[in-house]
Amino acid sequence: MHIDGLSVRFGAFTAVDSVTLEVPPGRVVGLVGESGSGKSSLAKAVCGLVPHTGRVTGASRVQMVFQDPYASLDPRMRVAESVAEALLRMPRQARPAEVERLLGLVSLPAEVAARYPRELSGGQRQRVAIARALGAEPDLLVADEITSALDVSVQGAVLNLVRSLRDRLGLPILFISHNLAVVRYVCDEVAVMHRGKLIEHGPTESVVGSPAQDYTRALLEAVPRLRR
Ligand SMILES: Nc1ncnc2c1ncn2[C@@H]1O[C@H](COP(=O)(O)OP(=O)(O)OP(=O)(O)O)[C@@H](O)[C@H]1O
Ligand SMILES: [Mg+2]
Repeated sequence: MHIDGLSVRFGAFTAVDSVTLEVPPGRVVGLVGESGSGKSSLAKAVCGLVPHTGRVTGASRVQMVFQDPYASLDPRMRVAESVAEALLRMPRQARPAEVERLLGLVSLPAEVAARYPRELSGGQRQRVAIARALGAEPDLLVADEITSALDVSVQGAVLNLVRSLRDRLGLPILFISHNLAVVRYVCDEVAVMHRGKLIEHGPTESVVGSPAQDYTRALLEAVPRLRR
């Protein structure tokens, strides 16, 4: 997926300023930057959820997963129905088996299909949201702070799931997080946003190990563990 000269304006304010970025197949590209730097605005523009200028090519079916899985799952629908909603292109009788396959893909047992979102843990709900996104056969997954609302104990499992989706499906993933430890764990590349502009982009180890920009260095210093 290529983002070319993408800008998002809210009235006179420019939230995303001429960003050019590529997310190659089988790569997880991290997008970091302080609160308000334009990460979610960029993500929403890529998904066609906010008006923008510039071009997004090479991704026709983009699926987004959000921080709060409650926002994307209907509390009145059982897991099976929620996931099956993404499968309307399939004949009705083929959907239950596909729901089961998708739940397996995100390491959820088949019995979860009969439950309501409130009967699941936060991590399980997030897996259902991911299963649902995968059901739409995306050619790009955009994950916006998908572990931020989760207990530390289940964050790791969701992060491992992201890595395994990259490895098993070759799915390109744009992974937004303010947590650089998380980014370092899952991302092959890191792009740094500052006031709407992309100011640095490279392989995770080089951006984290020897940042070119003072701003990136300051972001990293807020996470002392990474600087050892
Ligand atoms: N619908 C909107 N209307 C007006 N301004 C907006 C709108 N959405 C976002 N903004 C502004 O655009 C800027 C970027 O917001 P955005 O949500 O993209 O930041 P972010 O990097 O995702 O921050 P966070 O880490 O807090 O999620 C902010 O100043 C925000 O107030
Ligand atoms: Mg955001």
